[in-house]
Amino acid sequence: MWQSKPVLVLLLLAVSTAATVGKPLLTKVTKGVTSTALYTAPLSAGRPLVLDLSAPAITTPCSGQTTTVTLSANSTDGSNPISPVSFAATATCAAAPSGAVGVAGLARSSASFPAQVASTQKVANSFALCLPSSGVGAAIFGGGPFFLAPPADRPAITTLLSDGVPLRQPFSGNPGYFVSATNGIAIDGTRVAVSGSGALIVGLSTTIPYAQLRSDVYRPFITAFDRAMGSSAKVAAVAPFELCYDSSKLSPTLSGYSVPQVDVMLEGGTNFTVVGGNSMAQVNSGTACFAFVQAGGGTGGATPAVVIGGFQMENKLVVLDNDKQTLSFTPYLPARGFSCSNFNFTRAG
Ligand SMILES: *[C@@H]1O[C@H](CO)[C@@H](O)[C@H](O)[C@H]1NC(C)=O
Ligand SMILES: *[C@@H]1O[C@H](CO)[C@@H](O)[C@H](O)[C@H]1NC(C)=O
Ligand SMILES: *[C@@H]1O[C@H](CO)[C@@H](O)[C@H](O)[C@H]1NC(C)=O
Repeated sequence: MWQSKPVLVLLLLAVSTAATVGKPLLTKVTKGVTSTALYTAPLSAGRPLVLDLSAPAITTPCSGQTTTVTLSANSTDGSNPISPVSFAATATCAAAPSGAVGVAGLARSSASFPAQVASTQKVANSFALCLPSSGVGAAIFGGGPFFLAPPADRPAITTLLSDGVPLRQPFSGNPGYFVSATNGIAIDGTRVAVSGSGALIVGLSTTIPYAQLRSDVYRPFITAFDRAMGSSAKVAAVAPFELCYDSSKLSPTLSGYSVPQVDVMLEGGTNFTVVGGNSMAQVNSGTACFAFVQAGGGTGGATPAVVIGGFQMENKLVVLDNDKQTLSFTPYLPARGFSCSNFNFTRAG
């Protein structure tokens, strides 16, 4: 019996190395121009698939239930594309969103794009999104470092990642990504009082343009920001936003307009911090608005308190690790001299 132990260990070692011997895959990420602001990646022979954190499968128009599609990207060392890679993936038949040929579902499911990259490429089921505010951002599927140029000798921005925040599954059957804000939300360092406040459920979505707050959280949150901002720069609201400001009266900084900081205080003590660059949307040349909106629907148990939207994730590296079941993210990168549009897409060598 004792003899079988080393064999088992060796076998396990072989299996675990085999599971991660491939190279991660890199793709460009582009932000759509419409008000829906979908983020797409040219994974289908150069044609765009919508990146959707809440969708459990790859979908494409077809007849029947599922089909096989060929997807392509480049292998990467985290700094440049290395070589083109094409692979067969299983897709579910569904109409394509406008402006795209299908959806690359990124949610927690064995049929998702990251899960199929992990199984076909023998890489980790983990991915890093660097959503651009303009220009071309990047995503890497399969783990590893993530570099933004210039300069060429910079350290990987993955060194700026927060500790992993545990992913939670508060809604049975919902394949999306959720974490728990055990200490609620603070504005300018002061906790926003929410009635019945226990932990708040926070979801992530790449298909809503701006963060949505459930009405019982939205009202005290907006009131607290309004109070912290004061009224000297306030102007008429521009839908869908409630708080808008004369942007010539706001101070621009590397972190965006200098406005009260929002801290979503997550489980384990990590803050998802939202500085001006991720909180103030420039709606026209003279006006910037606080880009948090009220979610539709009730205050019932099935609605997350907060859903972080695309705008709040732009120019941060956001890593969803399905193997470790964690979320991690960097601070707002322009404050560190980087932007998600700085990935070096020139092939190395
Ligand atoms: C791979 O990278 C090269 C160089 O950037 C690019 O021209 C090509 O379109 C990429 N291929 C895919 C499938 O993304
Ligand atoms: C998180 O944010 C709160 C409120 O702004 C602050 O008091 C706390 O020190 C922050 N924690 C960390 C680890 O930065
Ligand atoms: C981009 O990568 C190429 C290939 O490694 C390199 O020659 C070039 O200097 C890099 N550009 C920047 C701006 O770092």
